[in-house]
Amino acid sequence: MPRNKVTVIGAGNVGATAAQRIAEAGLADVVLVDIVEGLPQGKGLDLAEAAPVVGHDARITGANDYAATAGSDIVVVTSGLARQPGMSRDDLLLKNAGIVRSVVQQAAKHSPKAILIVVTNPLDAMCHVAMTASGFPRQRVIGMAGVLDSARFRTFIAQELGVSVEDTHAFVLGGHGDTMVPLARYSTVAGIPITELMSAERVAALEDRTRNGGAEVVALLKTGSAYYAPAAAVFEMVESILLDRKRVLPCAVLLKGEYRTKGLFVGVPVVLGAKGMERIVEIKLTTTEQAAFDRSAGAVRELVEKLPA
Ligand code: APR
Repeated sequence: MPRNKVTVIGAGNVGATAAQRIAEAGLADVVLVDIVEGLPQGKGLDLAEAAPVVGHDARITGANDYAATAGSDIVVVTSGLARQPGMSRDDLLLKNAGIVRSVVQQAAKHSPKAILIVVTNPLDAMCHVAMTASGFPRQRVIGMAGVLDSARFRTFIAQELGVSVEDTHAFVLGGHGDTMVPLARYSTVAGIPITELMSAERVAALEDRTRNGGAEVVALLKTGSAYYAPAAAVFEMVESILLDRKRVLPCAVLLKGEYRTKGLFVGVPVVLGAKGMERIVEIKLTTTEQAAFDRSAGAVRELVEKLPA
């Protein structure tokens, strides 16, 4: 049986690290694509040369065009610009929308059955662009944000309580931005809600830190943004799809009335399997939680309305 094939568009920090994880786990052959000549080929070769030492047989190659990506099972989109000094959020939105539209159109042509995992920010708006550009159904356009945001929340909870991250689960809904909604009452250590394990003030402090998780790393790095945790989150989603594990993971998907939201990509728990987003898991939110979710969806709507038709 041939190995699965994953294309990663954007051979920058997130893309190359995700490619490394996928190949080194032996999960799929990986094609790295970037607009910069030599970059994906160079990183692909370097990663291939690590294979004998790591001990895997997955093929990793790099390309500047899309012919090499044909027949991919999954296409991960990480291409885009980082926000530069002097660039407004709206400038970034329009620039990255142009990049995502063009790469997705080309990738979808060569891999019409692929499942798209979108990583480029602003995430929820880029999912809209990817869906329109590909013409794919909502089951096959999935944004990576919730896995990362909840991984950050889990890290902070485990550190606070001095327990293993493995026994720590967290639930984060909403858009990938300042308005994301960490749900403490569904965040647990060995099944015990964290609200029973720490004070309300500490819960609020950890939720805040989670909301600012991306900015905290940017402030430390000074150039560039987080990539180890984002790449690990991409890997978890790719693995659940390729191995049809049906993991329940928070992802940005197009809502059609679920969580009282229509026509917007917002982060909710979904079942990820061989068909992509196989099911949305709906839970009943309290009035306060639903209000926070609505606010978050509103922030996504504002960005989407700024996208060119
Ligand atoms: N086609 C292909 N690749 C492109 C294109 C394009 N049209 N435009 C830009 N790229 C490539 C860049 O050349 C660069 O190698 O995308 C890559 C982005 O990599 P980095 O700048 O290292 O950014 P990274 O840290 O990987 O983040 C990528 O993920 O988490 C999000 O906010 C982050 O939107 C950003 C994305």
